[in-house]
Amino acid sequence: MNAQSLENVLAGLPIPHFRYFDTIGSTNDEALRWVAEGAEDGCLVVADQQTQGRGRFQRRWVTRPGCALAFSLILHPIKEEMNHIGFFSPLGALAISQALEDALGLAPQIKWPNDVLLDRQKAAGILVEAAWLGEVLQGVVIGIGVNIAPEAVPPADELLFPATSVEEAAKRTVDRETLLRSILQALFAWRSQISSESFHQAWEQRLAFQNEWVRIEEAGGEPITGQVVGIDTQGSLIIKNATGKTVAVAVGDVHLRLME
Ligand code: BTN
Repeated sequence: MNAQSLENVLAGLPIPHFRYFDTIGSTNDEALRWVAEGAEDGCLVVADQQTQGRGRFQRRWVTRPGCALAFSLILHPIKEEMNHIGFFSPLGALAISQALEDALGLAPQIKWPNDVLLDRQKAAGILVEAAWLGEVLQGVVIGIGVNIAPEAVPPADELLFPATSVEEAAKRTVDRETLLRSILQALFAWRSQISSESFHQAWEQRLAFQNEWVRIEEAGGEPITGQVVGIDTQGSLIIKNATGKTVAVAVGDVHLRLME
């Protein structure tokens, strides 16, 4: 991967400029800096390796060279999208899923709200960050990390949830740049439908652990256990507890764990 090959791969996509780095701290940090400098909608940061990659909940996200995708897309939400700002994370998950289905014939699932699973193991993660200046939104950064080759998967003792790679699931080698293009293509296509019922349906159809028992842990709150039922139109996870009562869990500082 290099700037020239990316130039070719990204041709024709609505990406006005991109920045490529062999090594960087975090593509999200670079994208947030670029937002502050006035980056346009669709600007993209791509890196082969990250040394300070960040995940959700202040976790580390390791990106080793040559075996993963790590990129951050800058968006300036239009008015209609502002009402669905919480859907930018599932937008990333849906785009990755669509690309893995279409390009590789895989059957990814989305662990609510936005981890992409292959064979029930995590293959990709999304970290969406918004840059605000007072009450004015300067831009949204959708950071995406995908384990492409098996070497991208951290050792099991460093994982909170089992992980895999696209190549392990596909049982063949996968071209990173071609997949990057497919993900971005799918992301722009789903973006235009972010407020539609078809977006909600597409997300829910891929929902992992349907009918299975999960535990939802919320910072400072009592854990909730129940069976996964679906996703409501607000993007909350609907679960049914042991007494048959349905509870909606809003996206936020919550962890979803599969029960043994
Ligand atoms: C998670 O599952 O916790 C989210 C992981 C997000 C990782 C990506 S890699 C590209 C971008 N840059 C970062 O520092 N993080 C995101």
